[in-house]
Amino acid sequence: MARNKYDIDETLETPFNIAHLKRSFIYMKKHKKRIVIALILSALSSVFSMFTPLLSKVEIDYFIPQKNIVMIVVAAVAALVSIVISVKLGIIRQRIMTDVGQDIIYEIRRDLFEHLQELSFEYYDDRPQGKILVRVVNYVNSVSDMLTNGVINFVLEIFNIILILIFMLIVDIKLTLVVVAGVPVFVAVMLLIKKKQRRAWQDVSNKNSNQTAYLAESISCMKVTQSFAREVENEGIFRRLSSSYKKSWMKAVKISFLVSFVVDNIHSIVAAALYVVGLLVIGPASVSLGTLAAMSGYVSRFWQPIINLASLYNNFVNGVAYLERIFETMDEPIKVRDLPDAVELPEIKGNLKFDNVTFSYEADKVILKNVDFDVKAGQSIALVGPTGAGKTTVVNLISRFYDLDSGKILIDGNDISKVTLNSLRRQMGIMLQDSFIFSGTIADNIRYGKLDANDEEIVAACKTVCAHEFIMEMEDGYETELNENGSQLSQGQKQLIAFARTLISDPKILILDEATSSIDVKTERLLQKGLNELLKGRTSFIIAHRLSTIKNCDKIMFINNQGITESGTHEELLEKKGDYYHLYNAQG
Ligand SMILES: Nc1ncnc2c1ncn2[C@@H]1O[C@H](COP(=O)(O)OP(=O)(O)OP(=O)(O)O)[C@@H](O)[C@H]1O
Ligand SMILES: [Mg+2]
Repeated sequence: MARNKYDIDETLETPFNIAHLKRSFIYMKKHKKRIVIALILSALSSVFSMFTPLLSKVEIDYFIPQKNIVMIVVAAVAALVSIVISVKLGIIRQRIMTDVGQDIIYEIRRDLFEHLQELSFEYYDDRPQGKILVRVVNYVNSVSDMLTNGVINFVLEIFNIILILIFMLIVDIKLTLVVVAGVPVFVAVMLLIKKKQRRAWQDVSNKNSNQTAYLAESISCMKVTQSFAREVENEGIFRRLSSSYKKSWMKAVKISFLVSFVVDNIHSIVAAALYVVGLLVIGPASVSLGTLAAMSGYVSRFWQPIINLASLYNNFVNGVAYLERIFETMDEPIKVRDLPDAVELPEIKGNLKFDNVTFSYEADKVILKNVDFDVKAGQSIALVGPTGAGKTTVVNLISRFYDLDSGKILIDGNDISKVTLNSLRRQMGIMLQDSFIFSGTIADNIRYGKLDANDEEIVAACKTVCAHEFIMEMEDGYETELNENGSQLSQGQKQLIAFARTLISDPKILILDEATSSIDVKTERLLQKGLNELLKGRTSFIIAHRLSTIKNCDKIMFINNQGITESGTHEELLEKKGDYYHLYNAQG
């Protein structure tokens, strides 16, 4: 089976790049206060947890032999209280950091989302939606823990190691040296395995990203899948992606087991060495039972932060790779953007001019070459021509969804590349073949065109475009809840809602790209009245394959071979007996 886009892993192979981590500190800085408080609480929590082994030494060596019941109880209660305080402080810290973590997640997502909203069509043209989604959802989740608990724990574990060392040294200097001697061995072994482990987990996250991306696409085009009876093939692709995910997971887990095996055993070896050295080498005479008990209590506490640091290191390496993906998305240049000295486009009258426009999506494939045309305010222009000729491209350029290779597009004499995108697009109404329905009520969907529209305006707009009747027949009328793809509505009904949405936004230039193709002939005739209303006083571009709908346009332009091959009124073009004439006759 052919490999598809989803088989291609994202490369997360970059070596640990501290610059990304540094940059992420801007997100932490805002929460500096809370992070510092959490750090202090954690440190206090550690200090309190240190007392227990020391207290047990005192118990075993002094109070129990002395049979001092009062002191035994006092020491036991003191141990209990210090544990309770330590746990309680830990819980408060956790609560604070969870809160900070969620804030950071929100802030990174917000920045990503804002940037994604600005990125031009070009960015979305060539990457699977799912992979963008994975960055915004999964990667951000993964780094938030690193930026909160990870960073705190890093500082804390180092603090812990020092603290425990101090406590151990208080108990017994020689035995402390025995414990510390295990460290270089551990570090050496870990360095050997860790690299493998890191690779393995990176692979897991890649495979997971592939699978999620495929899943996202599959869900959004399930209808197509089912209508082409592609279920079996798609299941096959999914099974393959899942099984490579499973394989990478199993491998990573195997290595992780190896790591925990090493960790557990080094730990036991050191504990055993402690007893051997304590009893045989130093001799039972100079090492009390209490000292041994206290030391073995500290041994596990000493190793825990070291083990934690090792796994933190791992998280940091992965996290930094995720940060890189996140920042890469944030840094993705916005190709189509306001010039530094962009001005507001004044209210559009509707004169439009293509001045020697050349455009290509990809470097070596010219779609439009030296195109010139002129449209007067209020004119309706039809764009016709074979599939793939460049009709949609022409209207995309008018809204400046892409920048030109050369030439100029002028609206009332203003070069559209020199005005702000907002002032340009705000005055433009664009209707596409598949009209987007957002989740919300029908009224909300129409209000998308003009956020402060009142109910009367909405009803009036719907009446104009013949949508009022069917809306009133719906269960809750204008308050009917729609889901995100408007599945309760027919294609034509969605189209009518989109018409109302556009009408209410009162655009000065109107673009209808195959917008009437899914409306039946009868409704279309009804709509024609509404449409005429919509077109009145506006410059409009209408793309339609059904030529009957554009006969009355002021000017018809036939697009083919990288430019306009014919233009004129319906009658003029028929008389010419050229491309348009043949196309028209072919439709009968
Ligand atoms: N985003 C894109 N990236 C690269 N090439 C594109 C892109 N969009 C369109 N094209 C190419 O540009 C050419 C013109 O496409 P366009 O969508 O303008 O055609 P059209 O005239 O609207 O066709 P149709 O009648 O089928 O809608 C096509 O050859 C197409 O392959
Ligand atoms: Mg098109």
